[in-house]
Amino acid sequence: MASVDIALCALADGGATEVRLDPGDPGSSVVVLRRGEQVYAYRNLCPHAGRFLNWAPGRFLFDQGRLVCAAHGAVFEVDSGTCVDGPCRGSALVPVPVRWLDGGRLAIGS
Ligand code: FES
Repeated sequence: MASVDIALCALADGGATEVRLDPGDPGSSVVVLRRGEQVYAYRNLCPHAGRFLNWAPGRFLFDQGRLVCAAHGAVFEVDSGTCVDGPCRGSALVPVPVRWLDGGRLAIGS
């Protein structure tokens, strides 16, 4: 798996950012979520029906701080990726490695 280098300050605190590990491959899409100094990354792939989680490029839904799949409303905890409500309750998003680099930057992916 490839990786993307991104600055922490480029991630909106409380929001989500979409990155592609391979710019030419939509299937390499990753959702990156920042909560303060914590950053979580998951494959942008819902375990319910394999759809993208976002409703438009780089645009994600939230409900009470939880990530919501735009297709059928599955609700995921940000810090674990676990589905806590909706059609795939109990399943989970696939985590993507996040590694701190120098200068407040992060490597998303391996
Ligand atoms: S594909 Fe995400 S809830 Fe159905």
